[in-house]
Order: sequence, then structure tokens, then C-alpha cells
Amino acid sequence: MDKLGIGIVGLGNISAAYLKASTHFPILDIRAVADMNPAAAKARADEFGLKAVGVDELFADPSIDIILNLTIPKAHVEVGLRAIEAGKHVYSEKPLGIAFAEGQKLIAAAKAKGLRVGSAPDTFLGGAHQTSRRIVDEDTLGQMVGGTAYFMCPGHERWHPNPAFYYEVGGGPMLDMGPYYITDLVNLLGPVAKVSGVGSMLRNTRTITAKERAGEIIPVHVPTHVSGTLIFQSGAVVQVTMSFDVAGHKHVPLEIYGTEGSLVVPDPNFFGGQIELLKKGGEWQRVDTDMPYADGNYRSIGLADMAHAIASDRPHRANGDLALHVLEVMEAFDVSSRTGQVVNISTPVERPIPLAHSLSNGKLA
Ligand SMILES: NC(=O)c1ccc[n+]([C@@H]2O[C@H](COP(=O)([O-])OP(=O)(O)OC[C@H]3O[C@@H](n4cnc5c(N)ncnc54)[C@H](O)[C@@H]3O)[C@@H](O)[C@H]2O)c1
Repeated sequence: MDKLGIGIVGLGNISAAYLKASTHFPILDIRAVADMNPAAAKARADEFGLKAVGVDELFADPSIDIILNLTIPKAHVEVGLRAIEAGKHVYSEKPLGIAFAEGQKLIAAAKAKGLRVGSAPDTFLGGAHQTSRRIVDEDTLGQMVGGTAYFMCPGHERWHPNPAFYYEVGGGPMLDMGPYYITDLVNLLGPVAKVSGVGSMLRNTRTITAKERAGEIIPVHVPTHVSGTLIFQSGAVVQVTMSFDVAGHKHVPLEIYGTEGSLVVPDPNFFGGQIELLKKGGEWQRVDTDMPYADGNYRSIGLADMAHAIASDRPHRANGDLALHVLEVMEAFDVSSRTGQVVNISTPVERPIPLAHSLSNGKLA
């Protein structure tokens, strides 16, 4: 199999998960890594037996086909545009950008040059989510009515060594965790047509409790409790709450309802998990996942799918149009909160093709 050359920019917390998971996908040949903090690049390079180079050198390396952008959200578009300028495809961590307008700029630049943009999350390609998708596609639930999506926690400052970015403009629970939930909902239910939402910022500061910087106080510049409604083009209506202000709760992360049945979809931050199905008149039943990539952390499967798509000239699933739609939807919660209006969503999107169509012997191709 031909390999594609990957160059990673941003070697912080999440890079270890990518570097571990990338071993599942032989098409990915990680040729070099770079970070604006050279010590961070060197530490990860040493840990995984890779080559650390300067950021400029990485973008200039002709052996690199795809830039894997694992920088913080506010740098995603700037790094992405640099990749496009250098004639390289780019796959970015989520969100695509911190504002819909800058996301549009990145997608337009890539399209103008015939280059690909991919974006996390790729957890919707996990076995549990692809099995949930099959249940919807087989019409088991009937006509889709709606659902609920809940991510609520006390805040990432309790575990992340550098949590300030979660509370800066471009942070907040919606841009941080919304991508997992909204991407999976689009995968299951199709495009969003309208959003109404409210956001609140109850505290101006947060105190880090992660041991590396325990006791340090960081400012808050974004709503930390965001709640609202997604109205899908199909007519389905989903209630969403994303929060860094809640001590604990007992909602399931994701639940969808049809006229003939209801489905508990596992946590979209993970690839696997227990699916539960209730058919009208019946009891809740556990459904086994019948797709691969469910039993572990496969972060980088979206990148691998994009690499295979480039090699065989087919569309990729965790694509820029999907990420841009999700970014527009997430921003719409804020727009709606500030204006008191229901916000129309303008970006077209297609549900990504289910993974089963391109699986050969259980391996991504
Ligand atoms: N930490 C997690 O558990 C987690 C999980 C899923 C997704 N993510 C996403 O991954 C991304 C990175 O998160 P993280 O937790 O690894 O952050 P981090 O702060 O630990 O690491 C980011 C790294 O990027 C580097 N960087 C920032 N701007 C740069 C630029 N312009 N050029 C070169 N290097 C730059 C920083 O020096 C740092 O080493 C974010 O988008 C986040 O939403 C993180």
C-alpha cells in the first residue's frame, strides 16, 4: 500500500493519543513533528521515535502530504491556511476554527487549490456510532422525532495541565464538546436547519485544580453553560446542553427518538459503548456493536480515512464541509443567545457515507 507522509504541528496533550492510535493505520507515515515550543516537539518525538523539526521546516518538507494540526483551537485556521499555502492537505483537531467566518475562509482556500480539509471528531466512525447509524438507516426507529444531547461537567481545569484556552474566546463547552455531539447527530439525522439557544457566564474566573498548576486563577471570557434546540431539516428536534458548570447529572449523553422506537447512542467522545434500543411497546434492549473500531481509542481514523480517500480519489468522511456545518451550528447558539432569535443554518452538508461501504476484511481502505 502507498503511504502518505504526515507532518504533525502541535505536540501537546492530545498528540499522544494520535501517535498511539496511528499504528492501527499503516497508510499513515509520520515523517516529522513540530511545535512553536520546540521542547514539546522534541519530548514527543523522543517518546515515539520520531523526528522533531522547526515549524517552517515542516511546512517546507516535500515528503509531507498532510499536515495533522493538533494545535489549540484559536490556531487551527491559521495553521490550516499555512498548510494549504504550502500545497498540503490538512486534518485538524476540533473545532475547525473558533468562528464560522474563519472556517469558511479555510474551506474556500482549500477548494480553490484542490486540497482536502479534514477535521476531528472522528469518533462517529467508531463501531458503536456506525452501528447506531445502521439502526437509523434500516428505519428501525421510524420517522425521526428528536432527541437529547448532554455534556455537563465541572470544567476541564480539574485535569488539564494548561486549561486557560478552554475559557478564552474560542473555548467554552460548546466549541470544545459540541463537535462530538453535533457531528454524531448530523451523522445520524442529517443537516441542521435552525438553532435557538442561550448561554450563561456565571463566574469571571476559574481556579485550576490540575496538579501541575493547582491554585492558579484564570479568567473566563466565554459562556460556560450553553443550552438550546437543534431543528433538523428532517423536522427532528434535539435539545442540547453543554456545560462546564455542572457538578454531575444523570442524563445519558445522547438519545434519539423516532415514531417507532428510541435509541440510546453511546457517548460520542468515544468509539465504543453500549447501545440500547426500545421498540414501541417493548422493553429497552442492549444492542451489540457489529462494526469494527469500537474497542479502543482510534483517534486518527478520520485522518486515515482521508489518506485512503486521497489515494483512491473518493470523498472522505470527517470532512471540511461537515466540520464547517457543525461550526456554524455551534456559533448559532451564541448568535441566538445574543439576539434572542432563531438562527437559520446556511451551509449544506451530506451525511458521511457509512463506514461499512468501504470496509474490506474489517480494515479501512
Ligand atoms: N486534551 C484532550 O484531551 C483533547 C481531546 C480531544 C481533542 N483535543 C483538541 O486537541 C487540540 C489540542 O489540545 P491539547 O489538549 O493537546 O492542547 P495543548 O495545549 O496540550 O497542546 C497544544 C500544542 O500546540 C502548540 N501550538 C499552539 N499554537 C501553535 C502554532 N500556531 N504553531 C505551532 N504549535 C502551536 C502548543 O505549543 C502546544 O504544544 C485542541 O483543539 C483540543 O480541542 C484535546
